[in-house]
Order: sequence, then structure tokens, then C-alpha cells
Amino acid sequence: MNSFDHPINAVVQGASRGLGLALVEQLLNSDQLAGLVATCRRPRQADELQALAQRAEGRLAVTGLDVTDEEQIAEAAAFTAEQFDELHLLFNVAGILHDETRDIFPEKKLDDVQPASAMYNFRVNALGPLLVMKHFVGLLADDQRAVIANISAKVGSIGANEMGGWYSHRGSKAAQNMFTRTAALEFKHHKKTRNAVCVGLYPGTMDTALSAPFQTNIPKDQIFSPARAADQLLEVIDKLDPTDSGGFFDWRGEPVQW
Ligand SMILES: NC(=O)c1ccc[n+]([C@@H]2O[C@H](COP(=O)([O-])OP(=O)(O)OC[C@H]3O[C@@H](n4cnc5c(N)ncnc54)[C@H](OP(=O)(O)O)[C@@H]3O)[C@@H](O)[C@H]2O)c1
Repeated sequence: MNSFDHPINAVVQGASRGLGLALVEQLLNSDQLAGLVATCRRPRQADELQALAQRAEGRLAVTGLDVTDEEQIAEAAAFTAEQFDELHLLFNVAGILHDETRDIFPEKKLDDVQPASAMYNFRVNALGPLLVMKHFVGLLADDQRAVIANISAKVGSIGANEMGGWYSHRGSKAAQNMFTRTAALEFKHHKKTRNAVCVGLYPGTMDTALSAPFQTNIPKDQIFSPARAADQLLEVIDKLDPTDSGGFFDWRGEPVQW
């Protein structure tokens, strides 16, 4: 991170594994990081995250946050306010594509669509980041550079959808993209947030549990490790300025079609 001219405080929401955990690790490696709050829904079971916290010499605090529970989101924001005075970087990472324990899988056809599964995708992928923005925006540094990065997916692009399928996941990520852009417009109207950059970021395909069942037809060299994806996204963030707010960018910093 080198786009801030002072030490920064950050939040990574959805940090137990995959991209979120890698972002925590990369941020801790940065000299520019002052404080970091990492949230996940089961902190006591997040062994790798807790191990990072143990080695972080007080720079990393972990707290619980299930994005489907607004009360927990509010509590995590209050916890964050106790850790540091102002927030400069917020990552919304948590996402779902399949969850065998809830009988959630990406649909192949209309007949596969199940209301409960579709609603859960929406609650995690769309409403979750929206409510996190609602509760954390008050912590943003006043009238300064701040970045809100909502991790999205290219399958959430309406214009680039040429394959079909995955109704609930596509729909929930498209909704997330709309929420990102709408919040970005609101931020521009307020003195406190007019320098905030609120974007959707597509990390590319990563080798994580989320994509594991769907990697078969993707060449290995097109699948990033979470560490590489995290690195790439932090580089993209460094290049973003307020005129980019409301945009949707991939791991190279290239705009993604809505
Ligand atoms: N992997 C890819 O190829 C790919 C491609 C495009 C976009 N993305 C996006 O990248 C983001 C990270 O995905 P990933 O690949 O790192 O996935 P992952 O390894 O499966 O991790 C998913 C994360 O989301 C958390 N999560 C799920 N439901 C949650 C909830 N209700 N409340 C709080 N946290 C919850 C999980 O926490 P638990 O440990 O508690 O389950 C876990 O930390 C997602 O938004 C995903 O859509 C991924």
C-alpha cells in the first residue's frame, strides 16, 4: 500500500479463509498498516487468522461478524471504533456460491431455482456488503482518501453474461454492484466522504473453496492463489482515485463491463 500519505487503519470483512485471509496477511506485511480489524463469523474456529493475530504484535484484532445478521454488523463496527479513531480502507470480501450444508448450489436451469437458496445468496453477497457499508461508513476518515472495496465477480456483470446459469449468484453479485455504485454516488454528496473511493473489484478466478468445484475447464495458469490475488487487488487500490468511485475493476485495474 503506497497511495496513502500516512499510516492507515483497515477492516477486512470475511477474513477466515480464501481471499480475505490473504488480504489480512498482505496488509500485515505492509509498513503502512497501523491497525487492522478482521471479521469472520466464527472467530474461535478461524485458526489461521488467529495465528496471524498472535504474530501481529497488536496490529490485528479479530471479531465476529456474520453478514446476514445486522446486529452483529453493528457490534463489529462498534468494536472497530474502539480499536482506532478513523478507518481508511474497508474490504467486503465474504461471499457464497455453494454451501452443501444449506443445499445451495449454482443453478443450471430455471427449474433448479430454490427461493431459500436464492435469498441466502442475496443476503450474503448483496445485502451483506450493503449493511456493512451502512454501519462502517461513519468510521471513515473525515474528508480524506478512503477506499471501500466490495469484492464482486465477473458473473455479476449483466452485459458480459454470455453463458447463462447461476441465477442466484449472478443476480446477487449484480445487485451488489448496483449497491456499490449507488453508495459511491451518495458518498460524493457529503463532505465527509467526497474523497472516498467506493468500488467493486473482481479478483479473477482464485484457488479457493468457493471455486474448487468449478475449476475443471479453467487452465491452471489462469487461476490465482489467494495471496497473488490479494497482492494484485492492493496494487489496483493504490491506483484508484475519487474519479474511479462507483466503478467496477478487475485484478489488472481494467474496468469490467456492468
Ligand atoms: N474464488 C474465486 O474464483 C472468485 C471469483 C470471483 C469472485 N470471488 C469473490 O471473492 C470473495 C472471496 O471468495 P473466496 O474465493 O475467498 O471464497 P472462500 O475461500 O470460499 O471464502 C468465503 C469467505 O466468506 C465467508 N462467509 C461466507 N458466508 C458468510 C457470512 N454469512 N458471514 C460472514 N462471512 C461469510 C467465509 O467464512 P466462513 O469461513 O465462516 O465460511 C469465508 O471467509 C467472494 O466475495 C467471492 O464471490 C471469488
